[in-house]
Amino acid sequence: MPGVLRLWETSPTGLDPRAERFLSSLSVDARLLEDDLEGSAAHAAMLGRVGVVPEGTASALVRELGAMLAEARSGTLAPAEPAEDVHSFIEQELTRRLGDAGKAVHAGRSRNDQVALDVRLYLRRAFAEAGRGVLDAIGAVCDLASANVETYMPSYTHLRRAQPSTLAFHLLAWCAALERDYGRFADAARRADECPLGSAAVAGSGLPLDREATAAALGFARPSRNAMDATADRDACVEYAAAASTLLMHLSRFCEEIILWSSAEFGFMGIADECSTGSSIMPQKRNPDVAELIRGKAGRAFGSLVALLTMQKGLPLGYDRDLQEDKAALFDLRDTLAGTLPAFAALVEALRPKPEAMAAALETGFAEATDLAELLVAKGVPFRDGYAATKAAVAAAASKGVGLAALADADLAAASSAFAEAGIKASDLEAYLRPEACVARRDGVGGPAPARAIEEIARLRAFIAAAVAT
Ligand code: ARG
Repeated sequence: MPGVLRLWETSPTGLDPRAERFLSSLSVDARLLEDDLEGSAAHAAMLGRVGVVPEGTASALVRELGAMLAEARSGTLAPAEPAEDVHSFIEQELTRRLGDAGKAVHAGRSRNDQVALDVRLYLRRAFAEAGRGVLDAIGAVCDLASANVETYMPSYTHLRRAQPSTLAFHLLAWCAALERDYGRFADAARRADECPLGSAAVAGSGLPLDREATAAALGFARPSRNAMDATADRDACVEYAAAASTLLMHLSRFCEEIILWSSAEFGFMGIADECSTGSSIMPQKRNPDVAELIRGKAGRAFGSLVALLTMQKGLPLGYDRDLQEDKAALFDLRDTLAGTLPAFAALVEALRPKPEAMAAALETGFAEATDLAELLVAKGVPFRDGYAATKAAVAAAASKGVGLAALADADLAAASSAFAEAGIKASDLEAYLRPEACVARRDGVGGPAPARAIEEIARLRAFIAAAVAT
C-alpha cells in the first residue's frame, strides 16, 4: 500500500519512497490552498451550469469548497499527507466529505491548468502588494526630499565630486527609479491577467466548458488564448521576478549610498537609533545593518530570477515537472519583498541629514567649475575654449588652495585671456559660483533647482494618490 494517495497510480505497490518524497510538493504548494479552493469552486459552479455535472452535485461541491475556504482562512484546514500536492489534497478531502460528488470536480481540468491558475491568483496579490510597497517607499523618500529642497551637496560621477546639487534632487533620482519599478509591476500584472482554467492538461477539454464564465468569476480580464501555452508558460513569474530584482537592485544601490553617506568618512547623515545597530564587542559602533541586509536581499532575488529562467530554457511544450520548482522561487521573492520594502521605508524615515557636512563638501573639489565654463559660454566663448580657460583657473586655484570664487583678477588673467575678453571680473564670481546660485540656474526640465524639486515632489505625491486609488 503506498504511503501517499495519488490521483493517479501506475503500480499496485506504489512508488519507491525515495521517488515519492522527491516528487511531493505539498510542503511548498500548501500556500496555494485558498487559491486552489477558489479556482475549484468557480470550476465546479461552471460544470453545473453547462450540464457536465448535475446541478445538485455542483452546488454540493461549491458549498463544500466554500466551507473548506472558510476553514482554510481560519486556520482549521491545512493540507496534509497523504496527498502529493495541494490539488490532490483538495480533491481527496472533497471526496472524503461528499463521497461520489467529490469525484466529479476534476472533469475538464488537470492539475496543469489548476496550478497555472493558482500561480496567477497568487501573483495577482503579489503584484498588488509589491506596487503598494513601492508607493510607500516613494512616499517616504518624497517626505525626506521635501524637507531638503535647499540642502546643498555635491553630485557625484565616478564617486568624485561633480557639480552642485541638493539632497532633494538626489532623493528624487531614487524616486524616478522607484516610479519605473512600480510601472513594471503594473504592466506585468496587466499581461498576467488571463485565466488558464479549462486549458486542462495541454490541449483543452472536449467537454462544453464555459471558460469565459470561469475567467469572469475569478476576476480575470479574459481566458488564456492557447491551452498548451497556458499550462506551460511561467512568463508571469519571470516578469514578477525581474521587476522584483530590478526594484531590489535599485534599493541595494540606494542603500549603498546610505551606507557611504552615514560613514564617518562622508558624514553626510546619521541613521537614527531605530534603524541602526551596535556591535556585540565594540561598544562605540553604530552599524547600518538594515541598509546592508537590503543590499544582501537583492542577491537573493537575482538568484530566484535566474532559477526561474534556467528551469524553463530547455523545456519542450507543454507542461513538464520542472515547472514545479517555480513556486519556491516565487514564494521566496514575495516574502523577500514583504520584508524589504517596509524596512526600506523605515530606514529612509530614520535618516538624519547633516546639511553643514554636505555644504562643506562643496567648498573643496571645484564642483562649481562647470558653471564658470558655462559663464564663458554665456558671454559668447565657444565651450571648448571656456573649458580650457576654466581648467587653467582650476589649476591656479588649486595651487593657491582656494576655490574658484576666491581668485583675483590677476589669477584669472594669468590662467586665460578669455576671462577679460568676456568681461568677467573676479569680483563677479563670488555670488555667481555659490552652490545656491549654481543650483538655481539649473532650472530646466529635470534639473535640481528648488522650484523644480518642489514641482516634482507634488507630481510624485499626485501619482501615489492616483495609483493608490486604482
Ligand atoms: N505539483 C505540480 C506542480 O506544481 C502540479 C502539477 C502536476 N502535474 C503533473 N502533470 N504532474 O507543477
